[in-house]
Amino acid sequence: MAATDSSLIASIKEKYIEKFGSDHDFQVFRSPGRINLIGEHTDYNNGFVLPASVDKAVYFAISSRDDNQVKLYAADLDETYSFSLDDLSKPESSWPHYQLGIVEQIQKRGLEISGFQAAFGGNVPVGAGLSSSAALECCLLFALNDIFGLGLGRLDIVKMSQKAENEYVGVQCGIMDQFASAFGVSESVMRLDCRSLDMEYFPFPMDEYMIVLCDTSVKHSLASSEYNTRRLECEQGVEILKKYDPAIQSLRDASPELVEAHKDELGDVVYRRCKFITEEIQRVLDACDLLVQGNLPAFGAKMYETHDGLQHEYEVSCPELDFLVLKTRENADVVGSRMMGGGFGGCTINLVKKNGVDAFEEEMILAYKKEYDIDLPCYRVKITDGTGEVL
Ligand code: GLA
Repeated sequence: MAATDSSLIASIKEKYIEKFGSDHDFQVFRSPGRINLIGEHTDYNNGFVLPASVDKAVYFAISSRDDNQVKLYAADLDETYSFSLDDLSKPESSWPHYQLGIVEQIQKRGLEISGFQAAFGGNVPVGAGLSSSAALECCLLFALNDIFGLGLGRLDIVKMSQKAENEYVGVQCGIMDQFASAFGVSESVMRLDCRSLDMEYFPFPMDEYMIVLCDTSVKHSLASSEYNTRRLECEQGVEILKKYDPAIQSLRDASPELVEAHKDELGDVVYRRCKFITEEIQRVLDACDLLVQGNLPAFGAKMYETHDGLQHEYEVSCPELDFLVLKTRENADVVGSRMMGGGFGGCTINLVKKNGVDAFEEEMILAYKKEYDIDLPCYRVKITDGTGEVL
């Protein structure tokens, strides 16, 4: 695993030993954060997405216990939390919700585990839209599956991790984040059909271009309530459109033309949501064709189209994200830029010519500081393998 950060691994091992001692064996697992090149808010509409897993990851150093106690150490926060497998009640502190959610899913499936102890940490920025939560869930479940021989496949791990987030954490996310974290392959993006769960890998050429994330460092409080509202608005659209074609189960089954034909009945807001989603689903397919042709500038132009739609039609952007994307339009070294993930903060994803990256970052940092008085973190990401054991 070329991109594994050996200092993070060494550190998590050290933290584990500090907390739990070195008189027994333990294992280390890694699960990465994700980016998404194109296909935003399409996963819960059964459409296509184009994510990849990156060289920012969560690490768990973990071993089983002889009792039914779970002891967790969040190394980055220097906090501990313990619970018994018989009592999965929700603590006030939110970080253990992910681990509790995973244990709950294991129990709901009728699988048996004993207690365990783990130290975990990593370098996926939290709240930046790189899905640190999905990485955490997939990492723990992958580890428990291995340690207790639960017999789960990767797809089970993805689905159970998503359910943990939906049912215990209470976020109605789609399947993209967990899928990307678990199934990532180095130097490839994956086109996932969120209806059939068929997946195809496409090599992502990184010789001429780099992927740079610019982190607004803001997360507006609207994020989760608006996310759930968007889901409902899409469902409202489906209810109306299926009157004209009963085969329509989700917006994946509708076309931009059909949406246009029922514009008045959908009403302004739902119409704009449905327009964006049906166009975005098609855009992922077109973008993949461009990728296969090696036409990165045209691929990048699609990213800008996505941003425009997310800003004006789907309305999940925010001034900070719009500012950063707009700023790139003056820079000839940037071929594509857009907000990434759920929205209302987090990162923009930028496709930048390699030899222009230094100047690009410098310019963006200066401009953001001037406009918002915030130091802009920029992350140059590499695409790495998905969840696995660190040997
Ligand atoms: C969040 C969710 C994903 C997906 C994106 C938007 O990251 O967790 O399931 O819906 O937003 O594309």
